[in-house]
Amino acid sequence: MRIVSQEWKLSLTILVLALLSCTPFSSAVSRKTNKNINTNVFMSPKIELSPGSVSNKLYFDVDFPRGHISLKSFNAELVDDAGNSIPLSQTYLHHWIFLRYHQPKNVTHNSQSGITFVRNSGFCQENVFGQYFGLGSETRGTNTYIPDPYGIEVGNPSEIPKGYVEKWMFNIHAIDTRGVEDKLGCIECKCDLYNVTKDEDGVALSPNYKGGLQCCPDNSKCKMLKGFLGKKRSIYLKYTVMWMTWESFIVPAKIYIIDATDVLKISHNSKGKSLEHDCKIEYEVEPCSKSNVNGSDCVDVKRSSFPMQKGGYFIYGVGHMHVGSIGTTLYGKDGKVICSSIPIYGNRSEAGNEKGYVVGMSTCYPQLGSIKIHDGETLTLEAKYNNTIRHSGVMGLFYFLVAEKLPHHHL
Ligand SMILES: *[C@@H]1O[C@H](CO)[C@@H](O)[C@H](O)[C@H]1NC(C)=O
Ligand SMILES: *[C@@H]1O[C@H](CO)[C@@H](O)[C@H](O)[C@H]1NC(C)=O
Ligand SMILES: *[C@@H]1O[C@H](CO)[C@@H](O)[C@H](O)[C@H]1NC(C)=O
Ligand SMILES: *[C@@H]1O[C@H](CO)[C@@H](O)[C@H](O)[C@H]1NC(C)=O
Ligand SMILES: *[C@@H]1O[C@H](CO)[C@@H](O)[C@H](O)[C@H]1NC(C)=O
Repeated sequence: MRIVSQEWKLSLTILVLALLSCTPFSSAVSRKTNKNINTNVFMSPKIELSPGSVSNKLYFDVDFPRGHISLKSFNAELVDDAGNSIPLSQTYLHHWIFLRYHQPKNVTHNSQSGITFVRNSGFCQENVFGQYFGLGSETRGTNTYIPDPYGIEVGNPSEIPKGYVEKWMFNIHAIDTRGVEDKLGCIECKCDLYNVTKDEDGVALSPNYKGGLQCCPDNSKCKMLKGFLGKKRSIYLKYTVMWMTWESFIVPAKIYIIDATDVLKISHNSKGKSLEHDCKIEYEVEPCSKSNVNGSDCVDVKRSSFPMQKGGYFIYGVGHMHVGSIGTTLYGKDGKVICSSIPIYGNRSEAGNEKGYVVGMSTCYPQLGSIKIHDGETLTLEAKYNNTIRHSGVMGLFYFLVAEKLPHHHL
């Protein structure tokens, strides 16, 4: 059923693109690629969760399409032993992320020694937000299709160092909230509900750190309702990848992720002064003052702004935000709106439309070549949360794709 609906979505995307496109050539490209698109459905290893518990693990050398390919879309969700979708109100999917890496050929297949991550094109420090794909609770309701003739190029043999193989790994963070005392508090990883006061290295957390990933590590447990009984259960991340064999007419799309908490800092190293990003990953939204609680003033705004060295054509964008979010907008120079991504809240109980949860994020698909980011253009990301109440461990991320050139027939 799911595959059918995926294909339906795909043909709809192609139809829309064909209608938007003014050149007969590009609709011909769309028809050609449609037939060549493959869909693979994979399952993660089994994850066992008892009520209130957290799983936050890394899985190396995972199933993934192989070869020199163009990735076209990536969807995921949590399912049970029978393959049924699990609603967020039972198991909250905080996030899943996929990372690409190169591994020496002469080590045992899932050893981590000598591996090097192949991060995306920007912007955070080191490997922070270096993933190729990743979403959270919104994954069922978020469109990830990359329009033709673009694609994310992976597995190009000329980019894999000699003696290495390309592999993929993922991290899944899930919280079983059956029988917990405070669902919102548990999914926001409030430290008092998890009774966590130290980080993974045993260092005391700052009293200002009220909640976030440090307080819901792997195997931690959220505060339960008294007397709740529930069985341990097995869950899986089911992920669906659409791809095609790489062809010369495909235009490569580069992946960028901006974090609204990023601040550029000046660091001094052997080569002198350099600018470094400092993404904090998550943040605390302080509640607005009581006198403002009339629905109009209680908006928390977080902004990050810096120049993008190498620009290009903006082809797809989507935000990642948590419960309480109002929306996120990426601006270019002079306040030009590049893309706004708005959360979709569920209003029922079934998986995919769970009341009160962020079940989707709107996406942007500007018309081919219509939005260009110039080299060195300053980008500003703005993330807004409703702060009528405090929110802990929230995120303000923006994932977007840029093509440095247009298809040949547009030049
Ligand atoms: C694998 O090869 C590298 C480079 O040739 C070498 O440094 C390393 O010790 C080898 N590792 C094993 C486990 O053989
Ligand atoms: C919280 O943690 C402390 C020390 O780690 C422990 O002594 C206490 O029993 C825990 N409380 C609960 C309710 O689990
Ligand atoms: C409610 O919001 C309006 C508009 O921002 C403001 O003028 C008014 O003072 C607020 N009321 C209270 C009670 O804070
Ligand atoms: C914030 O949330 C409160 C409580 O749910 C609601 O009354 C208010 O309209 C919201 N404000 C905004 C700007 O969304
Ligand atoms: C409930 O959610 C669905 C799916 O997002 C939406 O189409 C519908 O308009 C919503 N209904 C109400 C009453 O908000």
